Amino acid sequence: MTVPALLGGCKKDAPEGESESAGANDSELVATDADDASKTSKGYKIEVIDGVTYIDGVLIANKTYALPRSYDGNGLSSDQLTPLAQGAFDKMAAAAQDEAGLSLFVVSGFRSYETQENLYNRYVEEDGKEEADRYSARPGHSEHQTGLAADVNSVSYDFEHTAEGKWLAANCYRFGFHLRYPKDKEEITGYRYEPWHVRYVGEELARELYENDETLEEHFGITSSYEDYEAALRGPVENDISYNVQKPTPYYAEDVVIEDETDEEAAASDETERSASQDEGDTEAREPATEKATEAETAAEVPADAFDVPGSVG
Ligand code: DAL
Ligand code: ZN
Repeated sequence: MTVPALLGGCKKDAPEGESESAGANDSELVATDADDASKTSKGYKIEVIDGVTYIDGVLIANKTYALPRSYDGNGLSSDQLTPLAQGAFDKMAAAAQDEAGLSLFVVSGFRSYETQENLYNRYVEEDGKEEADRYSARPGHSEHQTGLAADVNSVSYDFEHTAEGKWLAANCYRFGFHLRYPKDKEEITGYRYEPWHVRYVGEELARELYENDETLEEHFGITSSYEDYEAALRGPVENDISYNVQKPTPYYAEDVVIEDETDEEAAASDETERSASQDEGDTEAREPATEKATEAETAAEVPADAFDVPGSVG
């Protein structure tokens, strides 16, 4: 599919329409209100449009690049994916079933800023900030707020060793998904290994990442660090755009055409999923809940038997 690279810049020397956009807008919109434009260390174009960062047309949310508080992927509800990501996920799930008799499903998709804030704050209380920052994004910095990320089947670390986990790792790229937080790349992605967390990036980019064993950070030549966020003169993370910007976002997810700005409010939604991450061989192993917590559990407290060590999120 050829996608007009209107919001998303093209990689230097890249052929026109080289990538299926994921997080970029497919519409005829012209990014006339881009309030920032620069290049990554690898020469990819960075555009910041109403607080949302697109690199080579791909929406990026990590420790360096935040989302506005109001960003909700054009009205997503809790655990939904954007239409394009959902369509790709459905194809992937069908293939897993047909090819291997395996069932794949989303246990956590979209999480609002407020949901992430509640989760992160709880994990800080439970584990301290330094540890929480290794497995849980601060509000505004989670890929789940994009609606393009999914936690699949189980947020248990055991998922890696299941048939479903192995199939997902080996095949998700065929459907445009990228295993976002691989083993041994915490210094690069900013997060510990998460075998269950995939991010929709489009088939072409997903294949490239898979074949080159690259993360988005390595591919684009960007960092994922709160220090870099602050160094970009955005101020302390606690005061960042994601905490303060309330304006509507005219550019939404990659597959939605929005002509006019609206005053849509971010849909507050309760988080219903929890997870844990741990490094391989971590003797302080934390075991995540194997099922989604109910909203009541999430809002109230962690059930005592949910974790060997309380708290964390995928
Ligand atoms: N667990 C991932 C990093 C998140 O909180 O978005
Ligand atoms: Zn996740």
